[in-house]
Amino acid sequence: MKVEEDFQPKIIGFLCNWCAYAGADLAGVSRIQYPPDIRIIRVMCSGRIDPAFILEAFRNGADGVLVAGCHLPSDCHYVDGNFKAQRRIAILKRILKEFGIEPERLRLEWISAAEGDKFAATVREIVDQVRKLGPNPLKKTQKVPGQKPIKIPIRPLQETYRK
Ligand code: FES
Repeated sequence: MKVEEDFQPKIIGFLCNWCAYAGADLAGVSRIQYPPDIRIIRVMCSGRIDPAFILEAFRNGADGVLVAGCHLPSDCHYVDGNFKAQRRIAILKRILKEFGIEPERLRLEWISAAEGDKFAATVREIVDQVRKLGPNPLKKTQKVPGQKPIKIPIRPLQETYRK
């Protein structure tokens, strides 16, 4: 696959407050280098991440999405939020394919508050992966004159995956 040299991917990172966000903070405090292509959104738990948030990110032009939370099986501060996230992401990866978005653009990772180095490595990996894939294919269809932009029916999906 051709890698676009000047392509700067836009990655949205949904990080749980207690583990992954603290891990990102540790990476910063420890001055561990990682690409600046990630925009972080702090959530209280990975189980709080509605699949609609991820679809909305892709619809608004994100080239990749990272979801990170506390390690399985028992680190989640809300008991089973990480299990919920795991189930939802697995289903969402299949849904993304239907909209022509490569599932590799979405990554789920467990990162503890002590794993600043793992956070940095994960960001490097997702940026490399997304660089290889190129820009979000939704962006192209939305720019072609006369071609209807792909519409993601977020509301009905929301109902389906909220469980
Ligand atoms: S509190 Fe971190 S995944 Fe639930």
